[in-house]
Amino acid sequence: TRQLPQENWDYVILGSGIAGLYTAYAASRLNRRVVVLTKYTVEDTNTDKAQGGIAAALGHSDSPDLHLKDTLAAGAGLCDPEAVSVLVNEGPGRVRELIDMGAQFDRENGQLALTREGAHSRRRILHAAGDATGAEIQRVLSEQARLAPNIEVRENHFAVDLLVQNNTCYGVLALDGSSGEFKVFWGRAVVLATGGLGQLFEHNTNPPVATGDGVAMAWRAGAEVMDMEFIQFHPTVLSLPGAPPFLISEAVRGEGAYLRNRYGERFMPRYHELAELAPRDVVVRAMLKEMGSTASDRVFLDLSHLDPAMVQQRFPTISRTCASYGLDVTKDPIPVAPAAHYMMGGVKTNLYGETSIEGLYACGEVACQGVHGANRLASNSLLDGLVFGGRIVERVNSLPPRRHGHPEFCCRELADAPEVDAARLRQEIQSVMGKYVGPVRTAEGLEKALAFFEGWSYLAGYRARSIEEMEVWNMLAVGQLVAQAALIRTESRGGHYRLDYPQPRDLWLKHVILRR
Ligand code: SIN
Repeated sequence: TRQLPQENWDYVILGSGIAGLYTAYAASRLNRRVVVLTKYTVEDTNTDKAQGGIAAALGHSDSPDLHLKDTLAAGAGLCDPEAVSVLVNEGPGRVRELIDMGAQFDRENGQLALTREGAHSRRRILHAAGDATGAEIQRVLSEQARLAPNIEVRENHFAVDLLVQNNTCYGVLALDGSSGEFKVFWGRAVVLATGGLGQLFEHNTNPPVATGDGVAMAWRAGAEVMDMEFIQFHPTVLSLPGAPPFLISEAVRGEGAYLRNRYGERFMPRYHELAELAPRDVVVRAMLKEMGSTASDRVFLDLSHLDPAMVQQRFPTISRTCASYGLDVTKDPIPVAPAAHYMMGGVKTNLYGETSIEGLYACGEVACQGVHGANRLASNSLLDGLVFGGRIVERVNSLPPRRHGHPEFCCRELADAPEVDAARLRQEIQSVMGKYVGPVRTAEGLEKALAFFEGWSYLAGYRARSIEEMEVWNMLAVGQLVAQAALIRTESRGGHYRLDYPQPRDLWLKHVILRR
């Protein structure tokens, strides 16, 4: 590291979604010097793509306690009630802070307009510009980060590895993709806010950057990771030949849309009393069953019975995108299929975002402090990023100031990787994950997936030559963790379904925690 360009910061934050930028904002308010490293542009985040909204108990008939009950029910026995209590009680204050920062959420008669999504017992989802909530939050936080004199955002900076010695994190080794130069960023606090792993699956709702880098890096550094078997698949993702997957927000079902099979039959009431608003894993399995029994690779979302003016006004982005494929959402059935959406597990933290490595914190999707359990309640993730990002700053601030450490890190002399077609390997990973580690799993399939990952594990001993290769190395590491955890958990619960163990089992009311 001594020969590389060096920078010293109070906070080195990886990721520029809601978790990373809100943490940066909170730290900057305490006059801390913050650098945010982001892989491509600031807006290449899951936050920016979020449609439905952000959940907070702000309605007259709502309360944090009801929000807590819904979150625990969705989490299927594996939420940490204390973490959820923090989320639902601190959430409304953090959302008000976003409003004070300039976030324009939709209003009706001057009051915040609240919608419903699956498994919520109340209307409690704030939204912006109809179905572009994330873009509004991203706009406000990105602007804040650009304006704050003590925050620097570095785009095109790929975090290669955490600099950890004796279980203490001192900083980050990053590759500046524009100059091709490696740099060292030393931090008094290093915060992982790198988001999820959607790209491990071919069909996913995530931006291309979501390759599980944060989990892979933390794992390599020796951090504990938890609940990796729980992946949430979103039921309604546009499925048109040749078109990229595009999320059709759950809020569409929240406003009354139906799911129909290829014969036009509305099927969800046969599967669950909440019908289209049942928990996502239930809806996904019902859809897969209907797709199987009707020999189709999709089902259809039907909005034709809803008021067309309301549909256009509430869902302008969805209406526009579908129109670009010749679909009129107010009349035409919209072809949809499930796609990977959210990682419930991640780098294990406590209620202050502290990981098992000193000086290393995590928040947002990359972190797992137990708020989502086995299945995340819709629209709780933006809230999670805000609340636990804020708590990290409070925690760091309450500790005696940590001095910078600059230990020397010598790269092991690694040989260049043997000729690997990274793009092809990425596709193979997606194919294996989709086939064996998707919404329905078996021991036999998971063992095949593990054999695939073990077959490629030798690559970790070689130097990756490009960002593309580094991402694929990370995907291999994280795919293996998901498959391992899924094989260990011999039951079905929330986002993890085993055909060979189709019921929840009380003996599994515990977490799978993996450590290198
Ligand atoms: C959606 O709009 O359906 C996504 C909301 C979420 O995943 O929380």
